[in-house]
Amino acid sequence: MNRPPEQETLFSAATKTRESDKTEIETKREQLLKAQAAYYQDDAPIMTDAEYDALYREVKQTDPEIDTIVAPAPREKDGFQKVEHGKPMLSLDNAFAYGDLLDFDKRVKKFLALPERDAIAYVLEPKIDGLSCSITYIHGELSVAATRGDGRIGENVTQNILRIPGIPHRLNAAYPPAKVEIRGEVYMSPADFIALNAKQEQFGGKIFANPRNAAAGSLRQLNPEITASRPLRFFAYAVGEISEEIAQTQAELLQILHDYGLPTNPRTLVCDDITATEAALTALESERAGLGYDIDGAVLKVNRLDYQERLGFVSKAPRWATAYKFSAEIAFTTVERIEIQVGRTGTLTPVAHVTPVTVGGVSVAKATLHNEDEIARKDIRVGDSVTIRRAGDVIPQIVEVLLEKRPENSEPYIFPHICPVCGGKAERFDDDAARRCVNDLACEAQALARLEHFVSKKAFDIEGLGEKQIRLFWDKGLLRSPADLFDLEAKDAESPLLKIKNLEGFGEKSAKKLFDAIREKRVISLERFLYALGIRYVGEAVAKGLAAAHGSFTALRELIEQVRKEKYGESFAKLSDIQGKQMAVAARALCEFFDNENNANAVARLADRVTITDYVALGGAAPLAGKSLLFTGSFDAFSRSEAKAKAEALGARVTSSVTGKTDYLIVGEDPGSKLNRARELNVAVLNETEWMDLIAKLE
Ligand code: IVH
Repeated sequence: MNRPPEQETLFSAATKTRESDKTEIETKREQLLKAQAAYYQDDAPIMTDAEYDALYREVKQTDPEIDTIVAPAPREKDGFQKVEHGKPMLSLDNAFAYGDLLDFDKRVKKFLALPERDAIAYVLEPKIDGLSCSITYIHGELSVAATRGDGRIGENVTQNILRIPGIPHRLNAAYPPAKVEIRGEVYMSPADFIALNAKQEQFGGKIFANPRNAAAGSLRQLNPEITASRPLRFFAYAVGEISEEIAQTQAELLQILHDYGLPTNPRTLVCDDITATEAALTALESERAGLGYDIDGAVLKVNRLDYQERLGFVSKAPRWATAYKFSAEIAFTTVERIEIQVGRTGTLTPVAHVTPVTVGGVSVAKATLHNEDEIARKDIRVGDSVTIRRAGDVIPQIVEVLLEKRPENSEPYIFPHICPVCGGKAERFDDDAARRCVNDLACEAQALARLEHFVSKKAFDIEGLGEKQIRLFWDKGLLRSPADLFDLEAKDAESPLLKIKNLEGFGEKSAKKLFDAIREKRVISLERFLYALGIRYVGEAVAKGLAAAHGSFTALRELIEQVRKEKYGESFAKLSDIQGKQMAVAARALCEFFDNENNANAVARLADRVTITDYVALGGAAPLAGKSLLFTGSFDAFSRSEAKAKAEALGARVTSSVTGKTDYLIVGEDPGSKLNRARELNVAVLNETEWMDLIAKLE
């Protein structure tokens, strides 16, 4: 939704920028744009880093979305340009049994408020095991092609895609849409994969683990000539952003893509009803080996595109599609030893080192053993012969022990009660399956893992800092806590002896690059900041929910202090209310994190060095941002979940009870006590039609 910022809506924010301020901001914004282009694209900076930083911070304060609006795709010397997808490229939820598909069908109907006896038609497509790509055609001409990347931003691989046979450079249509993003999978056939590896071996090139890796490695080549020499293929299966409607159903869409001249999968099937998918899946699985391309299952998509639109998506996956995964492949091997790894939150995770075997084309040397109970339950011992299974990208697992092959002198495995890294006590709390090292940040393994998490992609996303570099800085005593990262450059400048540029793997250039990368992240959004702290249960979604609910770090921090003071009184309910759900576990973990003085100090030191920007709802001006509302009773045209999803997409917070802070109560039939409560509290009440009118106006 791209409304011009000055457009008034029913809910437009009360603060309005004065005209004179606006031009000043605009000028600064333009300056910033120029400086960015000069730096990133021409390699010829027009201001110093410090000036740039100051300007950036200033613009960001009035326009926190500056990165998404103005940042030019960096022309990276050693990589690909970045491309922002018109619509995010989503992933899929998984189903592993027919029963899961029946549940999926039920959820779809429930969301659409359709009776269960109604039949929903689905399209069943083979799930190609390759890598997804988005190819944009402008007025029918191939304009840009990008890999999926993180779903929002991918890499520009246009020159490479142009060299894949079968992908048209021009769509075969008299009147193609002004703009269309075609989504599909680039893959390699198993036969081509084997031949490629043989050739690679002959010429001393890279050997690929499986066709999927070979396809990815071949597409992500800086030299398109190399891509052209690799046997890549493509199947189109969806569209992202499109300037006009071209089809009413997924089946129709696939036909149109085919007519455009794009390769589509001939094994696609329309099932009039969920029950028809069972036999179709069995048939597909039995043909799996002979298809000429690897599939790891099938994708089931709601056929009607208007339904797809209404169903929308949750987090990263659409509600209108699911991936049915075929059962995984199995291999036999031997457990050579059991290693205990200590994770970010102190969990002791046992990992079996096995004699390397090939499972589904991939060489496997390790398998997860999950936890103490799992080892005991399966009585897994060192020396045991076992079967292991690999399902898609999931870490291999031990399925069973072949007792008849157990060596005579074998002994049960004893799970350690001390942390193998720091020697601290490892305990089990309540009914937690995990045994944890209680030393927290005093345990090196936890501190290192916490730092790795802190700089990772979804957290501070500091380029050039990974496990290896963190270990190195740790060993040199340069890094103990996240805040240290932001002192690194100054300390480096002061220190006569210990210079990062002299450390192994570094040089003048890479050290400077690292300092730049860290400096760039001194301004950070609240949700990233919270996620980066690596608190148990505070993952991406919870961090975002907390940011949306409390707006600023100061507000959230105050509330946490209040909860701690009140010993989990009423304020705790407020803290636990995360996007309308009571998430007491996460709220408790958050408070317990700050109970620990070391943690509280580390965060305070960090907060001194970075600027945490307040939460901004997606799109900058979500029309219902900051509004709190709830639904009661039943509605004719939509289910409660659909209404809730819609309201949230527009930026509203959907709560579960009426309070003085509620902005709207939307009532369906048989509303119950909430309506009375709303009237008592003078909360605005809308009926179904009024709500529909309201959102129609906002969209
Ligand atoms: S539809 C939101 N259709 O599976 C729709 N995906 O786990 C998502 N994939 O990233 C894409 N074959 O790489 C779709 N026929 C198919 C597919 C397919 C393979 C891959 C794709 C996607 C992943 C999701």
